[in-house]
Amino acid sequence: MKKAFIFDLDGVIVDTAKFHYLAWRNLAKGIDFDFTEEQNEQFKGVSRVRSLEILLDMAKYTATQEQKEVWLVQKNEEYLKYIQKMDESEILPDVPRVLDYLIENQQGIALGSASKNARPILERVSLLDKFQAIVDGNDVTAAKPDPEVFVKGAQALKTEAKDCIVFEDSIAGIQAANAAGMISIGIGDPTVLHEAFHVFTNFTELSNDFLQELIAS
Ligand code: BG6
Ligand code: MG
Repeated sequence: MKKAFIFDLDGVIVDTAKFHYLAWRNLAKGIDFDFTEEQNEQFKGVSRVRSLEILLDMAKYTATQEQKEVWLVQKNEEYLKYIQKMDESEILPDVPRVLDYLIENQQGIALGSASKNARPILERVSLLDKFQAIVDGNDVTAAKPDPEVFVKGAQALKTEAKDCIVFEDSIAGIQAANAAGMISIGIGDPTVLHEAFHVFTNFTELSNDFLQELIAS
């Protein structure tokens, strides 16, 4: 049976949270705020605009709309410098094995990411050609946990929601997949991602037999 497998990008295919963190931390320094790695956890799966709002709330800083626009551009310019240095070594363990198994079994593969930098990142790590459809932050109006990004991924692959399987590392992403009526698979900490149908610490724990079960179900 043909299913659609929709992958989140950041934290599922590549670990870019560290680069987002460095760029946000630098911006925070400018307003004398010491942004910690622990606080950065809250930014996973959250849009760029919303991330800035949260950061300013944490710092108890009120900024004008104009200033926010400047910071958003500045943060992204710094983030892009890190992305430009990425290569295949940044791909998270066993992601290529899972993608290749799905391709060998003629399954649909889409990307469903909040990032507006999804295409350049996939290009840098040489995975762009594995995806038949890409839905990213440039294509959606509502952020996760709204299901829009995954609904559009399913439409692009002409697959019904019940035949879609979503891989996600954020709570908002799991909620978005569930709201879309898809099978959510958490990649990360089972206690954090307990709303998912299944959770694996990383792809090395997710076997081809399990993928075959999903395909056949
Ligand atoms: C998500 C990340 O995938 O994309 C968030 O988990 C990030 O941390 C968001 O803020 C938007 O990314 P970008 O690349 O458009 O700034
Ligand atoms: Mg993510």
